[in-house]
Amino acid sequence: MKFGLQIAAALVAVIAAAIIFGTFERPPVTTVQRGYRGTAMEQVYNPRLLSAAMAANIAPASLPQAPADGPKAGAVYKNVQVLKDVSVAQFTRLMVSMTTWVAPQQGCAYCHRTAEMASDALYTKVVARRMLQMVRHINADWTSHVAGVGVTCYTCHRGQPVPAVIWWNGDPQAATPGVAIPAVGKNHPSAAAGASSLPDDPFTPFLEQANDIRVEAVQALPGTDNHSIKQTDWTYALMIHFSEALGVNCTYCHNSRQFASWEQSTPQRVTAWYGIRMVRDLNTQYLDGLAGVFPPQRLGPLGDAPKLNCATCHRGAYKPLFGVAMAKEFPELTGAAHP
Ligand code: HEC
Ligand code: HEC
Ligand code: HEC
Ligand code: HEC
Repeated sequence: MKFGLQIAAALVAVIAAAIIFGTFERPPVTTVQRGYRGTAMEQVYNPRLLSAAMAANIAPASLPQAPADGPKAGAVYKNVQVLKDVSVAQFTRLMVSMTTWVAPQQGCAYCHRTAEMASDALYTKVVARRMLQMVRHINADWTSHVAGVGVTCYTCHRGQPVPAVIWWNGDPQAATPGVAIPAVGKNHPSAAAGASSLPDDPFTPFLEQANDIRVEAVQALPGTDNHSIKQTDWTYALMIHFSEALGVNCTYCHNSRQFASWEQSTPQRVTAWYGIRMVRDLNTQYLDGLAGVFPPQRLGPLGDAPKLNCATCHRGAYKPLFGVAMAKEFPELTGAAHP
């Protein structure tokens, strides 16, 4: 009897230790004050997580720039639709760079039937052409978010054909294993929101559709707030995604005594506001339209195209690649090369 109790106690201790060490971050951690004193606007940094984020966000060296003069790609090649205005030297440098950014193992053949480079037979080439347009659009029209830093294919792809972080529309009817009723997209460990019981897919409503992210009542009395607890769940799941994608606390953007107040928020919250609009634009105008181009194995359970979120570019860093301005070295991918 006594022996049985001891075994039970030992078991409980082992489980408790597993939960503590598996869930919490081990000290020491450092804190950095970012708001007025007394507002508790501090960033908590775990040096071990920070060094992992550093290692994951190293920008590769760029090839030396190629001259912009000489014959244009649009005149020399048979089937160039986007990069018409760049020189052949710039075009070649970009093809080689795209290969190292997106398909270093597979090479040119990932996008080309190498016997006939002009052919569009491979879906990857058709997708890559749309990606070229998307990257130019980000760098030229979304400076409200990406500023002078901009993006290249590497920002998302990091040497892989499929970026490490993508998502599809969640299936609200999907059952939780062992539970009879549909989970309505929540109440089971959410991969999108730090394994909390918050919704699994906070992306469809906010980063594809344009639902309202505002949830706080602006007055004390009822009647001013039309947002349900369910809507609030979705907003908080999105906010946890922001924090995890950027490797920051809520106070990087908010003063947590009044999450809604813009006056008390940091300038980064404004950048994030534009980021939400940018991601929506990219998902609806570029990725969604590729649903018919991707092969079935790349589509989600509901048949939709893969999409991007904040982590696709940020990968745990407050600025992707910690702010290295790779795009500057590729005028072919910015507004500079095409008036
Ligand atoms: C990630 C996909 C991708 C990879 C990898 C890639 N290309 Fe391309 N390539 C394209 C796209 C997209 C176009 C069409 C660009 C346009 O329409 O503006 C293109 C067009 C070309 C053309 C013009 C063909 C014609 O006559 O129309 C040549 C030449 C070319 N690529 C060479 C290469 C070489 C050499 C490599 C390997 C070093 C390579 N590409 C790797 C996507 C790729
Ligand atoms: C903002 C993020 C982002 C940027 C920047 C980006 N891509 Fe993509 N790319 C994606 C996403 C998301 C997908 C969908 C993933 C999938 O194919 O399952 C994708 C898919 C692709 C694919 C299809 C891969 C496959 O095997 O299905 C190719 C090829 C590609 N991108 C090329 C490029 C090229 C070339 C550039 C630069 C001109 C570029 N991408 C820039 C996000 C990005
Ligand atoms: C990278 C910046 C950023 C981070 C980090 C962030 N938020 Fe937000 N948050 C925003 C933005 C931007 C909005 C407004 C979105 C809009 O209006 O489209 C917002 C809106 C909100 C709202 C709705 C306020 C209202 O008007 O009703 C709440 C609540 C909120 N955030 C809570 C949080 C919590 C909790 C965290 C931490 C888990 C967090 N946020 C982390 C940027 C951020
Ligand atoms: C296409 C790639 C891309 C995506 C997707 C993206 N960002 Fe960014 N973000 C950037 C770049 C590049 C910068 C650096 C701009 C600069 O230096 O000012 C940046 C900067 C920021 C900053 C400013 C950081 C600082 O300290 O000044 C915030 C906040 C931010 N992003 C939040 C978000 C949020 C939230 C999302 C998702 C809704 C998001 N980003 C999606 C590329 C991206």
